[in-house]
Amino acid sequence: MNRRYRKTIIAGNWKMNKSPSEARELIDALKPLIAKAKWCEVVLCVPFVDIAIAQRLLKDSRITVGAQNMHHEPSGAYTGEVSAAMLKDIGVKYVILGHSERRAYCGETDALVNKKALLALQTGLRPIVCVGESLEQRDQELTLDVITLQVKAALAGVPVEKLRQVVFAYEPIWAIGTGRTATAEQAAEVGTSIRATIRKLYGARAARSVTIQYGGSMNPGNAVELLAQLDVDGGLIGGAALKAADFAAIIQAANQ
Ligand code: PGA
Repeated sequence: MNRRYRKTIIAGNWKMNKSPSEARELIDALKPLIAKAKWCEVVLCVPFVDIAIAQRLLKDSRITVGAQNMHHEPSGAYTGEVSAAMLKDIGVKYVILGHSERRAYCGETDALVNKKALLALQTGLRPIVCVGESLEQRDQELTLDVITLQVKAALAGVPVEKLRQVVFAYEPIWAIGTGRTATAEQAAEVGTSIRATIRKLYGARAARSVTIQYGGSMNPGNAVELLAQLDVDGGLIGGAALKAADFAAIIQAANQ
């Protein structure tokens, strides 16, 4: 973390978990535990159907509600989809884009993620753009090349004045939901490399203002060490975000 230049952001990614009534239970349990979080921004990226109840329950708190996806076109005949403008209209601020599960199961490409990022920014949403390498790519020492390509593709056409709105989440695919976390050194190396890529594109001043999260089995046991790295400015948390005590402990780690 480097709070002088950029925001620390702890975001929960609930994925396809928690119905609205279960969301109420989790948020009711969470709220009293994180009342004192003041050094970092806390975001809950919940399923679309949970957004309204989450916003209602969190109205008087410092926790923001986000979404996990949006369509790449502004509107039209896309049955079953949700647009950026719809999210903006109901007061959503953050949207996760290009999560590796969507890349793997829904065929999302770098080009599509870029389209979504441009539309999100145009609409006034802050995209949390996920990038990450597979185990095979890591074993072949391709990690930094793969991530650099993903970052450059995501940012194509993003003007410098919008750059600050973009959040990156480095999520090694092999660490997601596996209990296998990247070491703090691995997370730091990639975070620093992402910032270097941004620096080459936009200059040092702009690059240092971008929040770069780590995601992949982050938990109360490893959060302190991960967040101690200069280029790990927060977390995108899946499994541990579904347990109030664990998520609160990670926020606590970001507030130290
Ligand atoms: P995990 O998921 O914390 O359960 O590994 C992180 C993510 O996929 O965003």
